[in-house]
Amino acid sequence: MAKGFLTDIKTLRARARKHIEKGAVTEGYRADRDTVIRILNEALATEIVCVLRYKRHYFMASGINATSVAQEFLQHANEEQGHADQIAARIVQLGGEPNFSPEGLLTRSHAEYVEGEDLVDMIKEDLVAERIAIDSYGEMIRYLGNDDPTSRRMLEGILAMEEEHAEDLATLLATMGEK
Ligand SMILES: [Fe+2]
Ligand SMILES: [Fe+2]
Repeated sequence: MAKGFLTDIKTLRARARKHIEKGAVTEGYRADRDTVIRILNEALATEIVCVLRYKRHYFMASGINATSVAQEFLQHANEEQGHADQIAARIVQLGGEPNFSPEGLLTRSHAEYVEGEDLVDMIKEDLVAERIAIDSYGEMIRYLGNDDPTSRRMLEGILAMEEEHAEDLATLLATMGEK
C-alpha cells in the first residue's frame, strides 16, 4: 500500500488527526524542536541587539549631520526589526515562546552591542556584527538541512539580507577612505 517513498494515505490521514492541538507541528516534523526553538531565540536576541545598536547609531549620526549614513543605519534597523518579527512568528508556529526579555539579551545574542566612538567606528562595529550574523545564520541553515525546510528558507532569506547589509557597510567605509 505504501507507494514508493511516500507514506500511504490512510496512515497520513490518521496521523494528522492525532495531536491537532500542535497545529503546524506534525509527527512528520523531523528536526529537534527544542533545539530549533532555542537557536531561533538566539537569532531573535541577535536581531534585537542589532536593532538597538543601529538605532543608537542612527540617532548619533543624525546628531553629527551625517544624513546619508544615518539613513542607512535607520534602514538596517528597520530591516533587523522585520527579521526579529519573522523569527518570533516562526517560534510561535513551532509551539515555542519568543524570548523578548531584556534580561540576558546580550548573552543570548551572537552579535555585540558596541556604541562606537565616531562614524567610522560605528560603521565598522555594524560590519563586524553583520559578519557574525552571516556566519551564525550559515551554521543554522546547515544544521537544519532538510529537517525543517520552512525555518531554513526563512533563515536563508534573512542571511541574504545580512550579506547585503555587510556589503552596504563595506561600501560606505570604502567611500569614506577607510578599509
Ligand atoms: Fe537581521
Ligand atoms: Fe543586518
